[in-house]
Amino acid sequence: MKRLFEPVSIGSMTLANRVVMPAMDLNYAHKGEVTDQLVNFYAERARGGAGLIIVGGAAIDAQASGMDCFLSIEDDRFLPGLSRLTDTIHREGSRVAVQLYMAGAYSICGMRGLPIPSPSETVSLFTRQKTTPMTREDIERIQNDFVAAAIRAKKSGFDAVEVLASAGYLICQFLSPKTNKREDEYGGSLENRMRFGLETIRRVREAIGPDMALIVRVAGNDFVPGSHTNKESRVFAKAAREAGADCINVTGGWHESKVPQITYDLPQAGYAYLARGIKDVVDVPVIGCNRINDPYVAEEILAEGIADLVGVARGFIADPEFVRKAREGRAGEIRRCVACNQRCFDNVFRNMPVGCAVNPRAGREEQAKIVPATEAKKILVAGAGPAGCELALTAAMRGHKVILCEKRDQIGGQVRWGGPATGKRDFRYIFDYYSTMLPKYGVELRTGVEVNTELVQREKPDVVVVATGAAPFKPPIDAVDAPNVHQAWDILQGEVAAGPEVVVVGGGAVGLETAVSLAAKGTISPEQLYFLALHGAESPEVLRELMVKGTRKVTVIEMVARMAGDMGPSTRWVLLKEAAMRGVTLITGAKLKDIGPESIVYTDSNGTNTTIPADSVVLAMGSRPVNSLAKSLEAAGIANVRTIGDANAIGRIGDAVEAGFALGCEL
Ligand SMILES: Cc1cc2nc3c(=O)[nH]c(=O)nc-3n(C[C@H](O)[C@H](O)[C@H](O)COP(=O)(O)OP(=O)(O)OC[C@H]3O[C@@H](n4cnc5c(N)ncnc54)[C@H](O)[C@@H]3O)c2cc1C
Ligand SMILES: Cc1cc2nc3c(=O)[nH]c(=O)nc-3n(C[C@H](O)[C@H](O)[C@H](O)COP(=O)(O)O)c2cc1C
Repeated sequence: MKRLFEPVSIGSMTLANRVVMPAMDLNYAHKGEVTDQLVNFYAERARGGAGLIIVGGAAIDAQASGMDCFLSIEDDRFLPGLSRLTDTIHREGSRVAVQLYMAGAYSICGMRGLPIPSPSETVSLFTRQKTTPMTREDIERIQNDFVAAAIRAKKSGFDAVEVLASAGYLICQFLSPKTNKREDEYGGSLENRMRFGLETIRRVREAIGPDMALIVRVAGNDFVPGSHTNKESRVFAKAAREAGADCINVTGGWHESKVPQITYDLPQAGYAYLARGIKDVVDVPVIGCNRINDPYVAEEILAEGIADLVGVARGFIADPEFVRKAREGRAGEIRRCVACNQRCFDNVFRNMPVGCAVNPRAGREEQAKIVPATEAKKILVAGAGPAGCELALTAAMRGHKVILCEKRDQIGGQVRWGGPATGKRDFRYIFDYYSTMLPKYGVELRTGVEVNTELVQREKPDVVVVATGAAPFKPPIDAVDAPNVHQAWDILQGEVAAGPEVVVVGGGAVGLETAVSLAAKGTISPEQLYFLALHGAESPEVLRELMVKGTRKVTVIEMVARMAGDMGPSTRWVLLKEAAMRGVTLITGAKLKDIGPESIVYTDSNGTNTTIPADSVVLAMGSRPVNSLAKSLEAAGIANVRTIGDANAIGRIGDAVEAGFALGCEL
């Protein structure tokens, strides 16, 4: 990895390497003010070697965001906090920029009783709120607010400002014919629609002068029908450069786009091609973003000239030392972002502080320090899923002697097979990390070893940790033992095959994911698709059909009214979309009544029974803790038995990791 660590200049600012941490609203501010939590979070990322940290978005005025926990740069009273932030980041060795944020129609300032500004009256597809068209005075005032915010950024020591013109925010709303219906010189032709953004960039440039860098973040393609494609985006990027931008930061589409932007199904570096398109038309450095979570992938982007810098956003939440570990040849020690969004992006939607499913310290940098244990103990852990692995690692880092036993021949628990089988390929990184780290800290890993009372009595540990996970729920009806009835877990692990007409019982995440994976069987592989497309063998319509339509008919029945209600807002819609594309029939309010040899019967909310054909019935009715070991140990009089993860209470990866970390710190 050479290119990643080459210095690069953006205008007047020189960076030590080419890894940028792009702006992320973390919800750590208090009434817009910088907090200790925010400072500590960034300090650790700067220490970890980020070349440039872009903090924010930071609200340029009261209408910009509308959220109290959103960072603000709208008033001079925020200067001391912002200066403390820049001082700290500089002291730790990184350069720092602030993103000037104005959401326009995406703002929730209506909750503050303020009008939601946008170029034209519309109902935002993202927030579902009605907006107020901006007058000429509003345009002038908001541009002034951008300028005032930029001046404050300079006063508080930022090396650069970034003007937000991506993701569907205000400048995008002016750019797009979809949201800009104005008839004055700010609407109509592309030249007119670009006017608001370009004037803003020009005015910010003039205000900050030549000795401060100016970055403009653009949507590489809006991915919204009737809006800008990469063609117009290039025109705007070029014009932004001419208006004074020293760097173009290229991300994907809008928040309201129906093409996923940051979920796990987007391949790594999936939108780097958008940066490449813009790099062709500008003579300043270009940052490529989205799903760059691996330093080798990052290096390739740079080496191939696709972008000049890489943006690693959630990758830095997952591991503050992303850069340092890569530079020191310790890439295997990086906790990689798996794009689950469960504790970061989903928390933004919930108005909660950002955390991380794989990094239990994210957002708790000062409170959650790993300190040496006062007395080294012998700890025996049963189960090497995420809970057991995190516990073992944390305890070993603190100096305990840890024996980690896993009854299967590989660590990983449900995630090992459940991730890939449900389209979450990067979940493997969770265990790549533990595979590197457990031996590094001297954890004695015994695979193929099932912990039982005898083993514990023989080993005589000071503490036994039961992290034995879960098993799928089996409803208490005789028919579940029939040969045509299978557990989703067994189907996903490839232990049994489903017939051509399948009914999945249970429409939670696992049920729906199983249904989608079954519906996708029989479609062409990515390699076949690439080959056929490359050679023009089939028309796009035929390719699409081959890609989407599998060989099975799949139906999901769900008792409650909402499918996949256990999923977060940022991933649920993607799964529902895929289920629809693949022709999966979804029936809600449908309670399983009976299973026959070739059909199932369900009862709907009116009490009506309906029979539907099914040569395979797949049960996805949730899981239950597996903790009989804890009970046996207690019955045998063994003290100090602790139960964590799914074995204690069914949760998700983040819950298991958090529980493992907490106990590892406590023992
Ligand atoms: C198909 C599927 C998809 C999922 N998708 C997601 C998702 O997208 N996001 C998310 O957050 N969560 C997801 N989950 C849930 C997540 O995988 C679990 O919450 C998590 O794995 C629980 O971790 P754990 O360590 O507590 O238990 P487990 O992962 O179950 O690990 C327990 C381990 O203990 C071992 N074991 C059991 N008994 C013994 C014994 N006596 N001795 C030694 N070893 C033993 C088991 O073999 C297993 O390896 C999914 C689960 C499934 C099944
Ligand atoms: C919690 C969270 C908050 C974000 N907030 C912003 C923001 O305020 N401004 C912005 O331009 N992008 C924001 N983004 C998008 C990121 O900058 C980045 O483009 C995206 O996460 C994809 O990069 P990644 O795959 O490296 O995470 C946010 C992303 C996340 C996960």
